[in-house]
Amino acid sequence: MTDRRPSAHDRAGVTMPPSPAPGPAVSAGPRKAGTAEQVRFATGVLLPLLSAGVIKRRPRVMALAERLQLDRGGVATMRLLRERHGAGPLLMRLAGRSVLLLLDPGDVRRVLDGTPRPFGPASWEKRGALTQFQPHGSLITRGTERAPRRRLNEEALETDRPLHHLAPAVAGTVEEEARLLADRCAVTGQLAWDDFAACWWRTVRRTVLGDAARDDHRLTGELGRLREAANWSVLLPRRRALRARFLAHLRRRAEGAGPDTLAAAAMARAEETGAAPVSQIAHWLFAFDAAGMTVFRTLALLTTHPEDGRRARDEITGTGTGTGAPRTLPFLRACVLDTVRLWPTTPAVLRQTTEDVEWDGRTVPARTTVLAHAPYFHRGDPHAPYADRFTPGMWLDGRARSDPALVPFSGGPGVCPGENIVLLHTSTWLAAMLGERLTYRLASRVRPGPCRPLPATFNPFGVRFTVH
Ligand code: HEM
Repeated sequence: MTDRRPSAHDRAGVTMPPSPAPGPAVSAGPRKAGTAEQVRFATGVLLPLLSAGVIKRRPRVMALAERLQLDRGGVATMRLLRERHGAGPLLMRLAGRSVLLLLDPGDVRRVLDGTPRPFGPASWEKRGALTQFQPHGSLITRGTERAPRRRLNEEALETDRPLHHLAPAVAGTVEEEARLLADRCAVTGQLAWDDFAACWWRTVRRTVLGDAARDDHRLTGELGRLREAANWSVLLPRRRALRARFLAHLRRRAEGAGPDTLAAAAMARAEETGAAPVSQIAHWLFAFDAAGMTVFRTLALLTTHPEDGRRARDEITGTGTGTGAPRTLPFLRACVLDTVRLWPTTPAVLRQTTEDVEWDGRTVPARTTVLAHAPYFHRGDPHAPYADRFTPGMWLDGRARSDPALVPFSGGPGVCPGENIVLLHTSTWLAAMLGERLTYRLASRVRPGPCRPLPATFNPFGVRFTVH
């Protein structure tokens, strides 16, 4: 039965593919996918996501996924399901769990706005994964304990402020480390992921835990091993000894962090019952990885899209670089946002129903997983002018923000509380690199460009530049 309701996405002037077979007007709630469709979804959408590593990307699998452009197949599968079944969500049975697959942007908004009840963020799969290194993280907390943990995140990360009160310290740290990287590039004439990542992680450890943690590779190494285990979610037993070692190590660092750090902002709120600051800090360290990948992809876009590259440089020179002063850099922020839209670092946004939910006249039972496939919503509409194009401008003129399909940082009460600190950190990094009077030229195999559709899968670990 088909139920093609006009969605907010339609109202925003962007239409997803229409259902080909309009059915009776009476709705009987979510439809069920057939067995062949479930197999196709599992192999075409889920398998590539899981094999690439949801919590810690696996570089070799990413390289293969890029070669095969696996995300294109994933989006095509989603489109097919939408064409067959129309806009309403689709019920599936996967590995013994009920999954409600969203196909309409209006439903994405409904689910995100309904967080944490009746759509809880602490889904079964997420808890299985993230308890490996952040047993009390807000994202995997259920019930009344979630509120103080979410609040700690919002207050310490200053969710609503484009410039965090630590922005001067962040700007100084980033400019220092970026200059060291630039000096190295000027000598070697090239820039590859490993060089960048080493410097990126120094700025992350300094921003989160202070200068004393700058070279604490052991800490991020321990976290990396736990994240690798987390990729397997419930399939792997807890690495309890390693987790205890990591959390004790992180606690020592957090307790000793100086005043100009995010950790100090978290520890200052530790008195609040159940806020569990160390678990929240563990999430921050993990999440900064996605931001680093995004910087590298954005640099690749800015070096292959001459007009956008020029505009970025104008913004940087217009606001003065090398001063250590924090800047808002709206265009660079828009570039970062559009990069995360194109290659979402949280490709599967998951919720779990906390109770029975009435959906178009049928009941979706409690404990059902709800899944929004971000690559499909961000690029799945072939008629959208932005689908496969770098379009930072739409983050500046309000188009993207009013479109419920575009959720690179999620939305509603479970929106990423770190969005602004991410945009500050990443835009400052890009300004520091592009403002260093060096010219970057993309030298790796996959070349994005303004004259052809952008790659569906873009592996940041394979990106290389020559530098003059
Ligand atoms: C490119 C970088 C990032 C992107 C694209 C991103 C995106 C997201 C998304 C989509 C979610 C929702 C996940 C879900 O519902 O399952 C989320 C949650 C969250 N993010 Fe980020 N994030 C980034 C980096 C960061 C950083 C660096 C921090 C902290 C410094 C952070 C803190 C959080 C927290 C605490 C949550 C959980 C919120 C809650 O429990 O309600 N994120 N993020």
